[in-house]
Amino acid sequence: MTNSGTPRRIAIFDTTLRDGEQAPGCSMNPQEKLELARRLEKLGVDVMEAGFPASSPGDLESVRAIAGLIKGSTVAGLCRSLEKDIDAAREALAGAANPPRIHIFLATSPVHMEYKLKMTADQVAEQAAAAVKYAKKFCSDVEFSAEDASRSDPDFVCRVFAGALKAGATTLNIPDTVGYAMPAEFGALVKYIREHTPGAEKAGFSVHVHNDLGLAVANSLAAIENGADQVECTVNGIGERAGNASLEEIVMALRVRRDYLNADTRIDTTQIYGASRLVTQVTGVKVQPNKAIVGENAFAHEAGIHQHGVLVNRATYEIMTPESVGISTNLMVLGKHSGRHAFEDRLKLLGFTVDPETQEKIFTEFKLLADKKKVVNDRDIEALVMGFAAAAPETWTLDHWAVNTGSALGASGTIRLRHKDGAFQKLVSLGDGPIDSIYKSINQIIGKEPELELYEIGAITGGSSSQGETMVKIAWDDRRYNGRGVSTDIIESSIRAYLAAINAMEWELARNERSGRAPSGT
Ligand code: KIV
Ligand code: ZN
Repeated sequence: MTNSGTPRRIAIFDTTLRDGEQAPGCSMNPQEKLELARRLEKLGVDVMEAGFPASSPGDLESVRAIAGLIKGSTVAGLCRSLEKDIDAAREALAGAANPPRIHIFLATSPVHMEYKLKMTADQVAEQAAAAVKYAKKFCSDVEFSAEDASRSDPDFVCRVFAGALKAGATTLNIPDTVGYAMPAEFGALVKYIREHTPGAEKAGFSVHVHNDLGLAVANSLAAIENGADQVECTVNGIGERAGNASLEEIVMALRVRRDYLNADTRIDTTQIYGASRLVTQVTGVKVQPNKAIVGENAFAHEAGIHQHGVLVNRATYEIMTPESVGISTNLMVLGKHSGRHAFEDRLKLLGFTVDPETQEKIFTEFKLLADKKKVVNDRDIEALVMGFAAAAPETWTLDHWAVNTGSALGASGTIRLRHKDGAFQKLVSLGDGPIDSIYKSINQIIGKEPELELYEIGAITGGSSSQGETMVKIAWDDRRYNGRGVSTDIIESSIRAYLAAINAMEWELARNERSGRAPSGT
């Protein structure tokens, strides 16, 4: 079927910084969130949900910083249907550069109302309307979500939506919170709710779909076919459990099959790959190689017959070009003879906007690296930029380290760190291998013993001159912190990663102490 009319504009509501960040192991520090927010703006998302301000002082501060910075997208903050949550969102969004959005949710399914909320249906309907009315006093753009809508009585959702609309909601969101719906069923639900909510013509309809059965994108597209105006999604599909609907898949399905769906977005698709890489860098969560659009193999043609076809005419086996999603296939290699211009051009091409001072520092590091490695590729450059642009401020800085290890002896690790107040501390520990001994020394210096939940080491690129990249996740006081370290020496990359995670932890602890608040969670 071919649709020839003007395509309907579908709004992209990105929740990478909120639902995505809630996923296990996907926590981000405030600098990383800011960097990602800039990238989402460049991508052209209509709305970015920057966080859940009432959940922790850190989240509130991040939403505040993002809202103050972003001009090209609407910034939203999530709230439960509680005045204290709405007050936190209001505080976080007060200095927004653009008119912001308050996003309120309350569950409408029998199982959530009975066991989680311990509320009757009447109480839920009443609380939803009251929360929207309260938010409306401070913000003209209010979205209401009926959590677990796909397992709710559709007529009850219509009733709650009608109340929310009367109270001033401008967007009504139908979440498939547990990824339970089937595409045709979900499409029909969206249509039914639109047609049976009194006053529906006054609101925009949104969907928010999780991927527990691998149907998040299919369900989102079915919803669009049935009248949804907005889809909520995340870059790389990160999110609670099996994740959320993947932004890049929805956007490219709409772009490639505009003829069929007669709908499109305003996303600059050439920014997709850069955004995906940034999310991988920030979270340490890699995308599977065969992931649609952004996986390593998404545009790889192994089989001879495919290669032949693509060489003769790319359309034989490619329904979109790698360039259309921002994958460059014809780039000059950078090395020690590359000048400032070539370097700056590559930063731009990779989608980074860096202030001149940071750019200078990165360029110096690039030159040092280019002296050690013949070829500096895009992954090396990403790692360099992330080390400067998205790292937490350093409470502890590495001064020097040494390890002694061997099969007959145990290992001993010496480390000297500089505290931000200028004092140096040095310690030696014995351990079960070089990394263990060094990490023990660091723990003793900082006076804390965070749990090491993940330690992963790999090569940034192939070949023996590749840099080692280490990812660690540590847990302290029920919060998780990521650290990434890169070096041509794998022990040093491990130390840098651990210190980065510790600095992210110390930063949050200091912020909490300053604000006198403890994280409250959801
Ligand atoms: O999955 C969900 O229902 C949510 C809501 C808060 C929209 O994330
Ligand atoms: Zn969700």
